[in-house]
Amino acid sequence: MQNIHEPSAIGRRCESLRREGKTIGLVPTMGAFHEGHLSLMRRARAENDVVIVSIFVNPIQFARGEDFDSYPRDLQDDLAQAERAGVDLVFTPSAEAIYPDGFQTYVDVTEITDGLCGASRPGHFRGVTTIVTKLFNLVRPHRAYFGQKDYQQSAVVRRLVDDLNLDLEIVLLPTIREADGLAMSSRNVRLTPEERQAACVLYASLRLTEERVEAGERNTKLLLDEMRTMIETEPLARIDYVALCDPETLKPLDQIEGPMLAAIAVRFGETRLIDNLLITLP
Ligand code: PAF
Repeated sequence: MQNIHEPSAIGRRCESLRREGKTIGLVPTMGAFHEGHLSLMRRARAENDVVIVSIFVNPIQFARGEDFDSYPRDLQDDLAQAERAGVDLVFTPSAEAIYPDGFQTYVDVTEITDGLCGASRPGHFRGVTTIVTKLFNLVRPHRAYFGQKDYQQSAVVRRLVDDLNLDLEIVLLPTIREADGLAMSSRNVRLTPEERQAACVLYASLRLTEERVEAGERNTKLLLDEMRTMIETEPLARIDYVALCDPETLKPLDQIEGPMLAAIAVRFGETRLIDNLLITLP
């Protein structure tokens, strides 16, 4: 497995792979790998000639006061895991190489970034879409792989790809969960044992909504109240948002008439976790 640090070098390498007629699958990550990342790498391995993983904790998608400094990092372990997953090439640029002095161009997707994490983390998606655009330009992948846990991120990236006529396919893969339902996240390692236990309420509250919809409940206000009440039974949980929205536009739903996305963000101590479930009508 090759490790490339310089943006210009990855650009040249990918250009020559394309000239050789190879298909390229890109898995953009911030490292601290878990099964969720590995599932994206394995799928990319199955669908492409060459698999490239980027590992870059992107400073511009963290607002001041967020967890950029404490975000988990373990490059040596990540490299070993990527190699075992059959990755051909990792791209590990420095922040200075990605955002050199004088950098001043950002990519902004509007509207679909207004709600959910966009409302609680102003500027976050501008940081994501800027780095993702740079990665797409450097690697020019045929396919890029994202996880459903970051559902809004994947919807924003799809919008970006459609709106800017980027020539690649976005592949969205299911959330990988621990045995007790907690969605795998690099941030889970920062939970204390008590917070880790309390965090089970996230998936439980999503499943509650799914079961209530299956049983015929259609009142979104009631469903949201029930989710909030369940989460609030955990003294360590502080709700950031609880939402029932349209899976395409991500706008809040008043009526349930078709598929919907139940999405939540909750803090446990210093750690903010997100999760979601796509719910279809029986
Ligand atoms: O989901 C992530 O890990 C990041 O937001 C991404 C897509 C790699 C951009 O920094």
